[in-house]
Amino acid sequence: MTSFDLGVIDDFVDGEPRQMRISDRVLVVVRIGTDVYVLDDRCSHEDFSLAEGEVNVESLEIECARHGAMFRLRDGEPMSFPATKPVAHYDVTQNNGRLEVIVP
Ligand code: FES
Repeated sequence: MTSFDLGVIDDFVDGEPRQMRISDRVLVVVRIGTDVYVLDDRCSHEDFSLAEGEVNVESLEIECARHGAMFRLRDGEPMSFPATKPVAHYDVTQNNGRLEVIVP
C-alpha cells in the first residue's frame, strides 16, 4: 500500500467532483463537508468519467453523466441501473487539513 498526497481539503469545492491522476490511476475526488471520497474515475457500465457527473450531497452518491447510474461515494457500490458492478474506492486520511489517498 502506498499513500499519495491529494493536497489540502480547502482546495476542494464542496460537492464538486474533481479528476486527479495519481501514479498510474485516474481518480475522482469528492469533498462533502469535512469528508472526502475517492473512487476510480471510470463508470463500471462503460468507460466514462464519473468526474463529469453530478454529486448528490444528501444521499452521498455520484451520478454517471452518460446513462445516469448512481454510485455510493463511501464504497463505490452501484445504487441504480444500468451499472451493476462497483467502482473501486480508496481510503483517505487527513492530517491538519492535508489529504492522502491510500492505494494498494
Ligand atoms: S457509462 Fe455510466 S451509466 Fe453508462
